[in-house]
Amino acid sequence: MTADIPQWNELDTAAFLAEGDVFVPRREEQIRIVTDRLFEGKTRPACVFDLCSGEGLMTKAILDRDPDVKVTAYDASPGMLKATAKTAGDAATRLTARPFRLEELDWRFHAEPADAVVSSLAVHHLDGPGKARLFRDLFRILTPGGVFVLADLVEPASDAARRSFARQWEHEVEQRSLALRGDSSGLERFRALDWNHYDPRVPDPLDKPSTLVEQTDWLRDAGFEQVDLLWCVAGHVILSAVKPAA
Ligand SMILES: C[S@@+](CC[C@H](N)C(=O)[O-])C[C@H]1O[C@@H](n2cnc3c(N)ncnc32)[C@H](O)[C@@H]1O
Repeated sequence: MTADIPQWNELDTAAFLAEGDVFVPRREEQIRIVTDRLFEGKTRPACVFDLCSGEGLMTKAILDRDPDVKVTAYDASPGMLKATAKTAGDAATRLTARPFRLEELDWRFHAEPADAVVSSLAVHHLDGPGKARLFRDLFRILTPGGVFVLADLVEPASDAARRSFARQWEHEVEQRSLALRGDSSGLERFRALDWNHYDPRVPDPLDKPSTLVEQTDWLRDAGFEQVDLLWCVAGHVILSAVKPAA
């Protein structure tokens, strides 16, 4: 990586740790849908990767779902990896926390096979070819029958969708702020930090979401089957895709 490529930094980590509870639409619902998807098949995953685990809420939900499942949580941020281990609590004995850079290739070649891979709110930091390459590499890493569940932003294909997503995200943040903090301070922070990708005063070069159709095409091109949309609110989607059983 060269220094002039914008990267997530510890200021972003601090902002997300402070405001993520309000900024992420229906966060608990998203975590439940992703986790349900992993454990609804006939075979329970024994080994799951959480790419860009953040403070580890998804990792913890997966660890709590099955006393035998092991999770490898990857993240670039030392602060986030520390937070993931803390969030895991007693289940941290089944957690491996690994520093990595999502866009780099070495971890993909050294990774042991995984029965499932999840990632939330991070893959949009890769450009289009980077996402397509990641999907191909995850297909290779997954065991036959393994599932990939991606929770992330999508780029609208029209101005109408962009306006709709922008309004919906503001509404979701306001509702969460009122519910969790009893006031609109979360919405004020959301606006002050210019966090709404769909209504930015200054576009953030770190954010490179791709359209829904592009991403489902890349997943199918990588070999995945049952490529599906499980959920969509305010431009945030949950996609799932299955590597065919051998
Ligand atoms: C918006 S947070 C999402 C965290 C968590 N998955 C969640 O949904 O709450 C993005 C996370 O991705 C990590 N991250 C961002 N860019 C990364 C990169 N290029 N390589 C590795 N981690 C990255 C950050 O450190 C942060 O923990």
